[in-house]
Amino acid sequence: APGVASLVGGGGLNMEASLTARDRVGIQDFVLLDTYTSETACLDNLRKRFHENLIYTYIGTLLVSVNPYKELDIYSKKQMDTYMGVNFFELPPHIYALADNAFRTMMSEFNNHFILISGESGAGKTEASKKILQFYAVSCPSTKVLNNVRDRLLLSNPVLEAFGNAKTLKNDNSSRFGKYMDIQFDHQGGAVGGHILSYLLEKSRVVHQNHGERNFHIFYQLVEGGEEDLLRWLGLERNCKHYRYLVQGNCAKVSSINDKSDWKTVRKALSVIDLSESDIENLFGIIASVLHMGNIKFEADARGYAMLNNNQEMQWLLGIPNQVLQQGLTHRKIEAKSEEVFSPFSVDHAVYARDALAKAIYGRTFSWLVNKINESLANMDSSRKTVIGLLDIYGFEVFSVNSFEQFCINYCNEKLQQLFIELTLKSEQEEYEMEGIEWEPVPYFNNKIICDLVEEKFRGIISLLDEECLRPGEATDLTFLEKMEDKIGGHPHFVTHKLADQKTRKTLKRGDFRLLHYAGEVTYCVVGFLDKNNDLLYRNGKEVMRQSKNAIIKHCFPSTEPDSKRRPETVVTQFKNSLVGLTEILMMKEPWYVRCIKPNEAKQPGHFDDVLVRHQVKYLGLMEHLRVRRAGFAYRRKYEVFLQRYKPLCPDTWPNWKGTAAEGVRCLIKHLGYKSDEYKMGRTKIFIRHPRTLFATEDAFQVCKHKLATRIQAKYKGYKVKGDYLKQREAATKIETCWRGMMARRERQRRAWAVTDLLICSRFIKGFMNRHQPACTDNSEYLAFVRHSYLTRLKENLPKTILEKDSWLTPPPILQELLLKAQTSALFKGKKENYPFSVCRPFADTRICAEDISIKVLQMIQHEKVKYSVPVVKYDRNGFRPRLRQLIFTQEAAYLVEEAKIKQRIDYSSLKGVSVSNLSDNFLILHVTCDDSKQKGDLVLQCDFLFEALTKLSVIVNKQNCIHVVQGSVRFDIQPGREGFVDFKSGQESMVYRAKNGHLMVVSL
Ligand SMILES: Nc1ncnc2c1ncn2[C@@H]1O[C@H](COP(=O)(O)OP(=O)(O)O)[C@@H](O)[C@H]1O
Ligand SMILES: [Mg+2]
Repeated sequence: APGVASLVGGGGLNMEASLTARDRVGIQDFVLLDTYTSETACLDNLRKRFHENLIYTYIGTLLVSVNPYKELDIYSKKQMDTYMGVNFFELPPHIYALADNAFRTMMSEFNNHFILISGESGAGKTEASKKILQFYAVSCPSTKVLNNVRDRLLLSNPVLEAFGNAKTLKNDNSSRFGKYMDIQFDHQGGAVGGHILSYLLEKSRVVHQNHGERNFHIFYQLVEGGEEDLLRWLGLERNCKHYRYLVQGNCAKVSSINDKSDWKTVRKALSVIDLSESDIENLFGIIASVLHMGNIKFEADARGYAMLNNNQEMQWLLGIPNQVLQQGLTHRKIEAKSEEVFSPFSVDHAVYARDALAKAIYGRTFSWLVNKINESLANMDSSRKTVIGLLDIYGFEVFSVNSFEQFCINYCNEKLQQLFIELTLKSEQEEYEMEGIEWEPVPYFNNKIICDLVEEKFRGIISLLDEECLRPGEATDLTFLEKMEDKIGGHPHFVTHKLADQKTRKTLKRGDFRLLHYAGEVTYCVVGFLDKNNDLLYRNGKEVMRQSKNAIIKHCFPSTEPDSKRRPETVVTQFKNSLVGLTEILMMKEPWYVRCIKPNEAKQPGHFDDVLVRHQVKYLGLMEHLRVRRAGFAYRRKYEVFLQRYKPLCPDTWPNWKGTAAEGVRCLIKHLGYKSDEYKMGRTKIFIRHPRTLFATEDAFQVCKHKLATRIQAKYKGYKVKGDYLKQREAATKIETCWRGMMARRERQRRAWAVTDLLICSRFIKGFMNRHQPACTDNSEYLAFVRHSYLTRLKENLPKTILEKDSWLTPPPILQELLLKAQTSALFKGKKENYPFSVCRPFADTRICAEDISIKVLQMIQHEKVKYSVPVVKYDRNGFRPRLRQLIFTQEAAYLVEEAKIKQRIDYSSLKGVSVSNLSDNFLILHVTCDDSKQKGDLVLQCDFLFEALTKLSVIVNKQNCIHVVQGSVRFDIQPGREGFVDFKSGQESMVYRAKNGHLMVVSL
């Protein structure tokens, strides 16, 4: 069946195909849940998928992600490739699909996007944002410059995590700040820059940690991983237990965290993101100073005022003069009219001021770091760019006790929900408009009323809080509560103990107020609101900091900062303003959403806690989101796609529809009996209101598919059998043709041979008649035949040794040479170096033709029968001057001839022997017997046809061993009683010269 499915559906596990598997793995898009208002149905679907390791599910284009708490093999390079450039619904839901789709939409529409990742702590937000960043790092075009930007984007993460993340009870690597990161792309899709905004760092963690929690990672990394030198320089000891700011949670060491190796990563990353060495020194100076600061102790003097007693820590603090620092930590400056008065702190007060300073230092340094990263990510090119923003921000937080932080965070989520409603409804409306479908208003809950409750000017909770913080007189958290009861007591989303009815009152304490957020109710404890909102840093604390030698601190506490004349903005107002800024940034972009869910509190794989997940489904606003998505139509598809899949369901559209796709779909759904309120026909898409309509269609398709498969199979089988028959028939015809052709060719050849036979006969006869003529066209074929037949016979009748002259088959005249060559071989093979080169040179009868020998000479020697003649160079016996001569062998003697003169006659009987060297030269020395002193001496000759000449000579004189191959030097007689020498050697260049010792030196290659 799968094979058939792909035949029809076009392959791949696309969304429609997965509809089939919906019983087992649930559905991949919540929008297709028929009971979309049921939390239980939603939960069931999540659970089914979670247990199949399917952690991703869509709500339209929103991605729901459930933290698997184990490594899944779905983030490989191969997976990235799979999702690159593929349509959203063609593959199973994945974070890569969302990232890729955002990217491709940006490229094709040239607009800006953001991906909002939310979820409670530990749900996988930060991991998701890293996955997206990694996907872009791999999928975007790369060059050297772009890789540089890419590395910085990737490495900004470990740095920000070191300074902004900490272990909490919920997550060992919990981000303690909100993060919005822009990735800027050029028009080719290359990542060319980035920008980071951070929100609401949880500074209180610097000075206080709950049990089981830690301070920010960087402190532990420095103490555990810092090099010895560095620690010494910073006055630190390698022991976290020594630092009060590190031990309050009582868990400095955590098995899942390796501070040492993280330290190395961070150090490397810091230099990649462009921090100079002095920046880095200053940065660690600050981290160390915060640790030292935590160890400063105060004692009470007689009047109960705080004083500092020989605190060694002081010297390490940021290069601030001791006096100034002491004064700053124990006194507060009050301006009274024109006077400045220092009023001493109580011990408690001093501790509070110290902690405030530590928080301020850390918080401002964090902002400085974010700015630094931004400088390194800044894109200098001013050409137009598009961006994808990544927002990794706290989701709704609901604890048993909720305080100021939760209030801020949940307010943030209300704002983002507002944004979502506006953007989603807007885009939904736009799509309807584009498709020409009438917009019908749908009921959904608009949370604007809650946003107003919190942020409205003068009347909102934020305004009331600020008012209470700033007003003179004794303002407390409780007066703030009263004020709220007074001003907004009647609001339907606000309730307190006092305002509640009897039943609700039981669930509220006196100091509590409750907000009915869009995602559910949250009860806040009012204690600490004023203090946290004020975030007071005494003015002289800042002044003290300004005296620091640390460049970062100087930068963070500028002298231009307005003094206390005007109160600085409260924390909540700063936060509100930054949210307004964020909303503005996001409003101009196309939204994508990732909602993260954690399946259990124990960080365990495979465990799905229904209560916990139900809670998150609610607070993440998934149901609300689904409701908005479903406000209109559950399913929409391009006509072409819809028709392609479902056309087998109607005889008119199967197998092919001739008209337009829209007409085809109209015909199809008429056949299927869709009711008019179940669907709408847009310009390019069909909209189906309820999933059940689609499911019915899909189920019909599944049934039909099997029938269809049988039909297709039958058709195919028939087609295949017919095909086989045709193939066989074709093959038979081919064989027949070939056979006939071959027979015809054979016959033709036979006849041609008969003709040529005659020709060959006549040529053979002609050759025989001319066999004694010099080689010519008439006899060449015949001679070749003779040679061939002799050699064939010779092969069968070789003599035992080549020197048994008589036992050789008598060769035909043209092959006499062969015997001579055999002789040469016997004489020189393996003895003289240049012999091998002579083998292939044919011997000639003679080298000087009769006309070139002087007639006078010929007349004198003719009676002796001239056997062979060759030109030679003769070297004078005295002085070795070379002279051209002719060497002629007769039956009786060898003659050296100069033109018409016979210079020397050597009777073979007086020839003692011939010497040649073993090297590559062509010298020969003829030794003669000298009886009287008038006779000339030995002959020193050079002959180009040395082997030929000596072979002939040896045959003529019939002396086997008259030729000697010698090494080194040859002695010869210049004349009787006077000796000369020829020395042979090999060298780089062939040369003949008279050496200093009077020898003739012959150098050969
Ligand atoms: N997709 C995932 N695959 C495997 N483990 C994950 C995944 N997402 C999250 N985790 C695990 O959950 C932990 C918390 O995730 P994190 O992204 O830091 O949560 P959040 O940022 O939402 O607080 C991670 O350290 C990791 O161990
Ligand atoms: Mg996080």
